Amino acid sequence: MLVDMSSKVYSGTMPALYALVLGCFVVQVSAVRYAQYILTPSSRTILPASVYNVNGTVENAAGLLNTGGNATFTGPSAVTYDFGKNVAGLVSFDYNTTANARNEYIGISFTESSLWINSDGCDATADAGIDEALWFSVNGSGHRQASKEHQRGGFRYLNVYHNTSGMVTLSNLSIHFTAVPQKAEGDLQAYTGYFHTNDEQLNRIWYAGAYTNDLCTIDPTAGDALIFLGQVNSSSVVTTPLPWYFNYTISNGTSVLVDGAKRDRLVWPGDMAIAVPSIFVSTSDLITVRNSLDSLLRLQSSSTGALPYAGVPFGQRVPVFSFTYHLYALIGIYDYYLYSGDQTYLTENWKRFKSGLNYSISFIDSLGMANVTSSADWLRFGMGGHNIEANAILYHTLNLGIKLGSVLNDSTVAAWSKYAAGIKNATKSLWDPKANLYRDNDTMPLTTIHPQDGNAWAIISNLTASSKQNRDISTALAARWGPYGAPAPEAGATVSPFISGFELQAHYLAGQPQNAIKLMKRMWGDFMLDDPRMTNSTFIEGYSTNGDLHYAPYKNDPRISHAHGWATGPTSLLTFHAAGLQVTGAAGSTWKIAPQLGGLQSAEAGFQTSLGHFEVDVTAVEDGGLSLTFQTPANTTGSVVFAHGAGGGGGQVTVSKLGEGTPLVKKRSLALNGEGKTEIHDLPGGSYEASLVFN
Ligand SMILES: *[C@@H]1O[C@H](CO)[C@@H](O)[C@H](O)[C@H]1NC(C)=O
Ligand SMILES: *[C@@H]1O[C@H](CO)[C@@H](O)[C@H](O)[C@H]1NC(C)=O
Ligand SMILES: *[C@@H]1O[C@H](CO)[C@@H](O)[C@H](O)[C@H]1NC(C)=O
Ligand SMILES: *[C@@H]1O[C@H](CO)[C@@H](O)[C@H](O)[C@H]1NC(C)=O
Ligand SMILES: *[C@@H]1O[C@H](CO)[C@@H](O)[C@H](O)[C@H]1NC(C)=O
Ligand SMILES: *[C@@H]1O[C@H](CO)[C@@H](O)[C@H](O)[C@H]1NC(C)=O
Ligand SMILES: *[C@@H]1O[C@H](CO)[C@@H](O)[C@H](O)[C@H]1NC(C)=O
Ligand SMILES: *[C@@H]1O[C@H](CO)[C@@H](O)[C@H](O)[C@H]1NC(C)=O
Ligand SMILES: *[C@@H]1O[C@H](CO)[C@@H](O)[C@H](O)[C@H]1NC(C)=O
Ligand SMILES: *[C@@H]1O[C@H](CO)[C@@H](O)[C@H](O)[C@H]1NC(C)=O
Ligand SMILES: *[C@@H]1O[C@H](CO)[C@@H](O)[C@H](O)[C@H]1NC(C)=O
Ligand SMILES: *[C@@H]1O[C@H](CO)[C@@H](O)[C@H](O)[C@H]1NC(C)=O
Repeated sequence: MLVDMSSKVYSGTMPALYALVLGCFVVQVSAVRYAQYILTPSSRTILPASVYNVNGTVENAAGLLNTGGNATFTGPSAVTYDFGKNVAGLVSFDYNTTANARNEYIGISFTESSLWINSDGCDATADAGIDEALWFSVNGSGHRQASKEHQRGGFRYLNVYHNTSGMVTLSNLSIHFTAVPQKAEGDLQAYTGYFHTNDEQLNRIWYAGAYTNDLCTIDPTAGDALIFLGQVNSSSVVTTPLPWYFNYTISNGTSVLVDGAKRDRLVWPGDMAIAVPSIFVSTSDLITVRNSLDSLLRLQSSSTGALPYAGVPFGQRVPVFSFTYHLYALIGIYDYYLYSGDQTYLTENWKRFKSGLNYSISFIDSLGMANVTSSADWLRFGMGGHNIEANAILYHTLNLGIKLGSVLNDSTVAAWSKYAAGIKNATKSLWDPKANLYRDNDTMPLTTIHPQDGNAWAIISNLTASSKQNRDISTALAARWGPYGAPAPEAGATVSPFISGFELQAHYLAGQPQNAIKLMKRMWGDFMLDDPRMTNSTFIEGYSTNGDLHYAPYKNDPRISHAHGWATGPTSLLTFHAAGLQVTGAAGSTWKIAPQLGGLQSAEAGFQTSLGHFEVDVTAVEDGGLSLTFQTPANTTGSVVFAHGAGGGGGQVTVSKLGEGTPLVKKRSLALNGEGKTEIHDLPGGSYEASLVFN
């Protein structure tokens, strides 16, 4: 049993820290559009929303739903409170026992999913057992608050237990919200971006993604201490609940982005590859991104250039190399530069990028592909040899490196193009024309596994030879979906919201946005939000193709995180592709407006960079046409792209300055080479209206 005697209020030094980071990057917009969808709480003090269940004798359990009320527990009894959404923080309450009570205790425990509510403790953070309840001694009357290391990073349900024969009255049960610690209380909902479409479920998905990343933005001194590493694993037999606490310092700064809110509470570069773009379009919280990236770059090997699989303490205590996560850390440098425009940071870290990428190149063999010799990846199986995912991500990172090299005028990286071309040529041998998909690798005998990760990444990285091949892959992936989403056969009977985020992006890039919308609704909407075992507010780490909340890499189902930043792909993708609002150069110095509604009637999106405000508002018109307005900052340039499919020739495209009748551009849409795109380039930043009309 874990007895928490602390009654100290944890808040003393926080306000001073908030002040340091305000307004460094982004000018806040005063009124955020569509703020009614924001799930991040407006106040750091959160009360339960409803009573989920009462056991034993509890008078007025609902008394704790409002300040001023109370509830009285008599004898062994328990109440489960429901916050209505996943929340995070420190629990506190006031108590009052009968005058001469002695030895009275109140226990508190937490779960993200309703599935794991139990009479002994929390859901789990280790791969066996469950986590202990916090027990507070309550004689007489007074106030109790969990100590700082017992902040719980993710829970929707909170159990209050009374296990003795006396009577205890509780009041003021509340949570001090500890996520996004760098924000002043009044700014918790100050998103810099917004999204809206005619489909309400997609609106909820966009905002749940943004909120998931907020919950994964934590106090860097509240990271995972990995107390059970090497002691409790999936084969341990655990008979009593395990102690838990989070007080390891995992980065510098006042906030850090971790993989999951409940666990691991560690920096993982793979998770960042999905979370960072979604943070950019919603909160622009790039300081947090930089703190996290710095914690990884600091662990780079000075001899090989290898970057860690995860940040401290994992990255030091388990020094395994992951070919793909190493590349994701490099992609992190590119993303941070792209979204922030911070060229000083790029220059400072360019040597690290080069030594890191050259290390990856050292795995390329005489066939022209990297031969992966380390199995560590996103907990998929069979990562090794001439793996398609690994080679596609390497190809992509080489191309990003070539772009960065030209930003910095560094001609010493010219050889990267040759390696990239070699990978593109050599990976043709992994293509399986019968399946219209890439095989996982070329190890003999040839595998029958056509992985989700490698096929999605082949499109994203443009490792493919033609847009027809992209469409074929998109169609073949969609044909495999089950009732709960897209399978990742490379990880057993698993649905991965991480890799499925890349699959969504692949459908958009293949020009099949209807596949992306359908998968988002089925997987992120109908299942990950609306299934009653979920939090209806944040996105889960992984689950089974049959809809069980079992994730193949873990044995202990209560361990699965229900707020995982790597599951937030739809947030950036709806902005970038459905509304079509993209930055292509540093901080949006160049941009692209390329809406692909995929069957939606309308989409609106906006975000901020250090250069100013960007927004687009697009509506479908009859016969497959589009009508849009958009605004981009002065001193930027960009393009408008109408993707109208191969059959979309013969329409008329116009672009005008907003409010000026005479079009700047007027041309026929053409369907060339099956591409079905009409592009208008070199538009200076400003406010425009544009359309594609077919009648
Ligand atoms: C609990 O609240 C009731 C009003 O609902 C009040 O009469 C009572 O005194 C309170 N009890 C305690 C112990 O605070
Ligand atoms: C505790 O409850 C008693 C009645 O049961 C009441 O007289 C007393 O004021 C309460 N104390 C506090 C601090 O609420
Ligand atoms: C409550 O009473 C028990 C039994 O007398 C004692 O062991 C415990 O320390 C007391 N707790 C507090 C907080 O005073
Ligand atoms: C309430 O009782 C039910 C049935 O025994 C049990 O499953 C549940 O875990 C209990 N809840 C708490 C919070 O103890
Ligand atoms: C973390 O908390 C545990 C449990 O309270 C404590 O034993 C440990 O010393 C703390 N570690 C740090 C670094 O504060
Ligand atoms: C914080 O920065 C210092 C100085 O650069 C460094 O030594 C330390 O390792 C950093 N801490 C973390 C957790 O990254
Ligand atoms: C090739 O892929 C299969 C299927 O994923 C896997 O079982 C096998 O281990 C892989 N080969 C290597 C060398 O990793
Ligand atoms: C990859 O490297 C390992 C270790 O050097 C070697 O055993 C294996 O045969 C290589 N695989 C391929 C496909 O060349
Ligand atoms: C392309 O790959 C084939 C083997 O698949 C190889 O024979 C050929 O030399 C490669 N071409 C280039 C330019 O690398
Ligand atoms: C993708 O690769 C093809 C050549 O295979 C090239 O023509 C095309 O421009 C590339 N697309 C992008 C977006 O780089
Ligand atoms: C889920 O949350 C939305 C708000 O995001 C709310 O409108 C809806 O009622 C909730 N659904 C359930 C079943 O609680
Ligand atoms: C645009 O660039 C010019 C020349 O560099 C500069 O004087 C002007 O302030 C810039 N305008 C904005 C809105 O940034």
